[in-house]
Amino acid sequence: MSASYRSENHARAAIVDAARRMNALGINSGRAGNVSLRWNRGAQDGLLLTPSALAYDAMTADDLVWLPVAVPAAEAPDDEQPLRADGARRPSSEWRLHRDLYASRGDAGAIVHAHAPFATTLACLPRIHARGIPAFHYMIAVAGGDDIRCARYATFGTAELSAAARDALAQRRACLLAQHGLVALGASLEAALELAVELEGLARMYWQALQVGEPALVDAREMERVHARFGRYRPDADAPG
Ligand code: 13P
Repeated sequence: MSASYRSENHARAAIVDAARRMNALGINSGRAGNVSLRWNRGAQDGLLLTPSALAYDAMTADDLVWLPVAVPAAEAPDDEQPLRADGARRPSSEWRLHRDLYASRGDAGAIVHAHAPFATTLACLPRIHARGIPAFHYMIAVAGGDDIRCARYATFGTAELSAAARDALAQRRACLLAQHGLVALGASLEAALELAVELEGLARMYWQALQVGEPALVDAREMERVHARFGRYRPDADAPG
């Protein structure tokens, strides 16, 4: 899957716009976070990704980096060495997370990684590490299941973090990252950004509920009904791969 932009430059502009909106919407701040779009060049599967440590306001389409999804074993870099890139900028330090998710998730057309305040607050709690955000609200279904998992902690930019996120995203399109933030997958940049905003809203509500008591949960049977209806309510949000 490659998004239907008229040209790579249009795709690059859309990524910069999505990255800026991520901050404007309050789900990220400063230079944290990163955004990517699946973008194949001819027969070569790849992705376009925001560069590392560059302010989004200063970022232009030319600053984005294209990377291949498949890396020959001999060229696989260590954690510190950015993958061979075609631009002047270094790719995001989370290039491996994005690359590995595109490699394992055919349903991902775009990925948003943000240090969203409420999602990240929850991702620091042992109860969330153990059980994720449970179905305290039926809209938990938006991420594809009956909970939103929290990927085990791993150092940013490492293969361990990719593996932890991949596990937490099984049959889901969004997850938390312990002591770090959130990841949202979408068929498009719009969908990934919207899901990141929805997850942050759910995290905020769950955090608020925890301030005043122990939230009641929607039971598994009722969540089945919710999922069955979800296909009609949000046909764009099919069961994740
Ligand atoms: P980059 O600027 O390298 O993308 O890093 C931001 C970040 O959030 C790392 O997790």
